[in-house]
Amino acid sequence: MNVAFYINNHLCSWEVQPHETLLTLLRREGYLEVKSGGCKNGECGACTVLLDGKPMNSCVMLAAQADGHRIVTVKSLGQNPELGWNKTEGLHPLQKAFIDTGAIQCGYCTPAMILTAKALLDRVPSPTEKQIRDALSGVLCRCTGYLKPVQAIMRAAAILRGDQVPPIERTFIEPSQIALKVSREPPGTREEELTTSSTETRTKIVPRIWTLQPEKNYHLIGQPEPKVDATKLVLGKPVFTADIEMRGMLVAKVLHSTVAHARIKKIDTSKALALPGVVAVLTWKDIPRVIYSTAGQSDPIPGPLDTFSLDNKVRFIGDRVAFIAAESEEIAERAMQLIGVEYEELPPVLDPTDAMSTNQSIIHDEKEYVPFGLSDPKCNLAARIRIDIGDVNRGFSEADRIFEGDYEVPKVQQAHIEPHVVVTYWDEDDRLVIRSSTQVPFHARRILAPILGLPVKRIRVIKPRIGGGFGGKQEVLIEDVAAHLTIATGRPVHFEYTREEEFVAARSRHPMKIHMKTGVKNDGTITANEMYCLSDTGAYGCHALTVTGNTGHKAMALYVGDGPYRLSPNIRFYADVVYTNHPPAGAYRGYGVPQGFFPVERHMEKISRALGLDPLTFRLKNALRAGELHPFSTAWSEGREPKPEIIHTVGLDECVSQGKAAINWDNKFNNAQWHLVQGKSYLRRGIGVALVMQGTAIPYLDMGGASIKMNDDGSFNLLVGATDLGTGSDTILGQMAAEVLGVPLQDIIVFSSDTDFTPFDKGAHASSTTFISGAAVVQAAEKVAERIRIRAARLLSAENEAKNYLPEEIRLEDRCAFATDGRSITLAKIALDALHHSDQEQIMAVSSFYSPVSPPPFAAQFAEVTVDIETGQVVVDKLVMAVDSGVIINPLTASGQIEGGMTQALGYAICEEMSYDPKGRSLQTDFRDYHILRSDEIPELITLFIETVEPSHPFGAKAVAEIPMDGVAPAVVNAIQDATGADVQIIPATPERVWHSLQHTTSTLQ
Ligand code: FES
Ligand code: FES
Repeated sequence: MNVAFYINNHLCSWEVQPHETLLTLLRREGYLEVKSGGCKNGECGACTVLLDGKPMNSCVMLAAQADGHRIVTVKSLGQNPELGWNKTEGLHPLQKAFIDTGAIQCGYCTPAMILTAKALLDRVPSPTEKQIRDALSGVLCRCTGYLKPVQAIMRAAAILRGDQVPPIERTFIEPSQIALKVSREPPGTREEELTTSSTETRTKIVPRIWTLQPEKNYHLIGQPEPKVDATKLVLGKPVFTADIEMRGMLVAKVLHSTVAHARIKKIDTSKALALPGVVAVLTWKDIPRVIYSTAGQSDPIPGPLDTFSLDNKVRFIGDRVAFIAAESEEIAERAMQLIGVEYEELPPVLDPTDAMSTNQSIIHDEKEYVPFGLSDPKCNLAARIRIDIGDVNRGFSEADRIFEGDYEVPKVQQAHIEPHVVVTYWDEDDRLVIRSSTQVPFHARRILAPILGLPVKRIRVIKPRIGGGFGGKQEVLIEDVAAHLTIATGRPVHFEYTREEEFVAARSRHPMKIHMKTGVKNDGTITANEMYCLSDTGAYGCHALTVTGNTGHKAMALYVGDGPYRLSPNIRFYADVVYTNHPPAGAYRGYGVPQGFFPVERHMEKISRALGLDPLTFRLKNALRAGELHPFSTAWSEGREPKPEIIHTVGLDECVSQGKAAINWDNKFNNAQWHLVQGKSYLRRGIGVALVMQGTAIPYLDMGGASIKMNDDGSFNLLVGATDLGTGSDTILGQMAAEVLGVPLQDIIVFSSDTDFTPFDKGAHASSTTFISGAAVVQAAEKVAERIRIRAARLLSAENEAKNYLPEEIRLEDRCAFATDGRSITLAKIALDALHHSDQEQIMAVSSFYSPVSPPPFAAQFAEVTVDIETGQVVVDKLVMAVDSGVIINPLTASGQIEGGMTQALGYAICEEMSYDPKGRSLQTDFRDYHILRSDEIPELITLFIETVEPSHPFGAKAVAEIPMDGVAPAVVNAIQDATGADVQIIPATPERVWHSLQHTTSTLQ
């Protein structure tokens, strides 16, 4: 049938199928700024367009229904203001405000948010924050925590009204203006308040930062620079993996298992292959049998090899049975139904507690299985960890009291809004190109080579922009599917998970059952601390050892005890990671550490209350301090040889003092009156805290490379293998290069990442990019700067024969090289001289960096809640996080990480959980049953940065991305206990769990 409608003010008409959605039509016709979240039923809002001025999910609307209407997509709102002689009207104020306020992280939801905001502002020019949050509630964002998008819309509203808005920049507040004991608010308190008569809240676009050591005078480090990729993202440019069109591209689908544990007795593909439009169907019989691990980690992978692209056995509902390539998605889906599979069902293992019993089925009985460390497939054991530090038994014998407790943390989904997606094709040299939404392009290339029967050199992995990853894309999960089909057909193949596949066939956070035992003296000194952890890795052991190892390595390292115990702590961490017939777990932001801090911080809270000690004093008394040894550094290192490591920077005391002030702790904690809500006898308020730490990269392992090349105009190309998945890492890497080279960020053209062109990088994981890749960038920039100084000195000496300028006296600043007498020469002149005029050379450098240390960031996480004691309903009113992440390179991107991380962690605390029926079938397969927080459900979020200067990084930076995942759940549940006395030991703290705990408010501590 034919439909005609206006799109972006142009009347167009198209032939469409009656069942074709508007989303499919728009993307097929090249409107790639309209994104798909894979849900296709209106849950995520990524596919929003304006239909006659109103936001509409294009995935739930038939193309035919658009007939005669007006459709608007984000690309019609504005244009890049810099298009050479073609002067444009520039960006729409909303697009500009989203860039300026840091409202974009991965940018996958950004077109939908901007269109939704436009519809609101067209209707309500002066919206309240509540109206903005209500309007945005139909667009899910997994990155930002919604705070900065709300601020962006308020700012744009003010601009559209003609109000004056202050610039977003550093402002100077004298240290005397703040009453702080140790710290000062530095030059550059990055706070902007935007108050207008028509908005009901103040917005704080950049967070407060306190510097504990004198700050160096940087020109770009610490500045709220807009993201280098922001303009293309607000314009909806085709920058994501799926935004590519190729002639003859096939669509891939995977037939997934419908049973949890079975052998495939028979598989008949003849009917599917006979269906017109089906080009290939592959089963385990058609491809080489190569065992591997999907974990995107360095070589050798610290875990068992237990996976085949396709196998004659299935191990969970959602496991792979067959791959299909067809001319269209619809044909591929029909073909799936025509494949006949006969299973020989085996008893499933669904309870991790029983998984190691002798009467259980063996999930991995394949002869090719390659164990790692203590893994033993005969008893469904993927990994075992036994760490004893000091003399734990003696520590318990020296304690006055021993406290034990059991805790449980759930399996949760990364839920990035861009699904896993890959496009594969042969290039003109018959090299296989894999364009993938991967966090680990270099690991993917290495891991895929043997699976595909190709040498590494014949594979090229391109990582375009990524719509969020959070660890879910640190997995070689779908690339092999498309690649096998390209090899089989010779044609380009596009494979993209649906939202349902994300839930049933992707990875998740390991659920764990944890037992804590802690010995304490009556004065609050911890004498010994022990954790046992039973972790469910599901059907495959990807990241099994390392995720669970980090549960102990980070969470159990924080409390070493006091006095003599501080010098020689007694810590035990034992863990068993078991296989079950659940979908596999894997890497998820925080990487095992949130699982550890929930029990540790709940336990510390209960101990301090039982001993009548102030919870913060008790914690700080026992917590790690600067100059001390990381207690696990001599015991464990992700399956590799451990080496002792001193921790040099710990800002915990100041995090506590600033966080307490921000949440007004002293007026609330122990204040009986504050805990009551006037006129609502069924409500109670509570306040809670958790202290946390993370790591910054993996020492002696994680390596990143960078190359920098100077162009004729004095600009630079920075090529990094580091993988910006929305975090802003390209921006902060560019800032570091620009700082060294004395140019504005706009003069650094950042490109990441392509295994053919960019240097190796370990990928985006372990909070490592700023630290590892950043140090590589600084080293490369210093080498380039050195060449520039040499040439500058030579040119200046030639200009002024009376003087012999020395390279070491040359300073790079403002796109110039300055001598000490003030004479200068522009970088553009130096570049022209180098490339064209004399003693020609390409000024460029490559560098790489790995670190012998992993300096931990620290934080104090505070939460304020209101609990309905009749129903168990919890409302989280406020989250305050005071973070020591070293020197903050960019407060906009760093605070965005904290806000988004706290929001994800809040879901972990109160509402997110993946669960299964007795056959192992997932009970949550979409965003209706699996709830991630919407813009109208977010509490007040406050981020404070406490800057220490970490000596192992050129600018003093530590990690920021993962630590916000760690403390929210225990702080919220501690606040529930503070409000009601309820001892919640299992998260998420659903109303049902809180209500049940309220019925047994006596502490379970022994
Ligand atoms: S709402 Fe349309 S793709 Fe999610
Ligand atoms: S910025 Fe919203 S989903 Fe990533």
